[in-house]
Amino acid sequence: LCRHFSSSAVRNVVIKNVTIIGGGQMGAGIAQVAATTGHSVTLVDTSDDILKTAVKGIEGSLKRVVKKKFADKPEAGEEFIQKVLRNVSTSTDSGSAAQRSDLVLEAIVENLKIKQDIFHQLDKVAPEHTIFASNTSSLPITDIASTTSRLDRFGGLHFFNPVPMMKLVEVVATSATSKETFDSLLNFSKVLGKTPVSCKACDGVMTSQVPLSNMFVLGSPSGHGSKEDVDIAMKLGAGHPMGPFELADYVGLDTIKFIIDGWSAKDPSNPLFAPIEMLNKLVAEGKLGKKTGEGFYKYK
Ligand code: NAI
Repeated sequence: LCRHFSSSAVRNVVIKNVTIIGGGQMGAGIAQVAATTGHSVTLVDTSDDILKTAVKGIEGSLKRVVKKKFADKPEAGEEFIQKVLRNVSTSTDSGSAAQRSDLVLEAIVENLKIKQDIFHQLDKVAPEHTIFASNTSSLPITDIASTTSRLDRFGGLHFFNPVPMMKLVEVVATSATSKETFDSLLNFSKVLGKTPVSCKACDGVMTSQVPLSNMFVLGSPSGHGSKEDVDIAMKLGAGHPMGPFELADYVGLDTIKFIIDGWSAKDPSNPLFAPIEMLNKLVAEGKLGKKTGEGFYKYK
């Protein structure tokens, strides 16, 4: 895709200090990878308890890495874990974290207004050179950026779950994103050891057909068979690594619902975005998938 970038207020930013807003599945995963690759990371969430759980999760994940990588050198493995964890600090104050950051990456709840409010606040306190990015799966970056005065320093960085394992990162530029910002984000993704792809003219991510295909199967009124059968069929027949029900549980049913509701609000007559009764019921019961121990399936 060929397009022109807007001009930038700043030169290329080498990203060293990173603030990640949201210490859930995605934020914690991104924090782990950024800390492992030598960045100084501040993970921000709404409470210390959530942050404690996030850091515990990172530690657990690092232990799994070490078991493989340092199988016969447990001491070196422990040293590695401590070194990575020293790169992670936590805070409930996004403003003060942003003041020390080259990049503020947001991975909070999939809600436009809440994302806009956070970036509006941070725009006032972050240094001029600081790049803002969102990990949104479904919202236009332009809309999220619209409450800030740094449209040239705003883009999308769309990671995949689980972040330490998944290689792809979609780097999204809006029509206002500068080339310098885009290059900094691309470079950051590479330094993280990921394979970035460029989404330059789309203002959103390319892979949103994942929830879309989910919706088709999850929402099919006639039903395609039991969820187990649908999942097996899509894995063995279509070569998907996970079936749609498993994937929905993995992503988080609340997040899937936010995405569908958001698209439905924009395009109410589109049957693909019609409410999915079973999904809504599970979310209302707090069964959000793997992260809460139960969704379409139960987890230990
Ligand atoms: P999650 O529910 O696991 O975590 C969200 C975290 O954000 C929670 O810890 C919550 O306490 C925190 N949070 C909410 N409001 C906040 C605020 N105002 N300030 C600070 N922290 C706040 O959600 P998950 O799965 O990590 O998703 C986060 C974002 O990443 C969403 O935008 C989602 O669309 C996107 N995403 C999710 C993927 C997935 O597979 N789950 C894949 C790619 C993107």
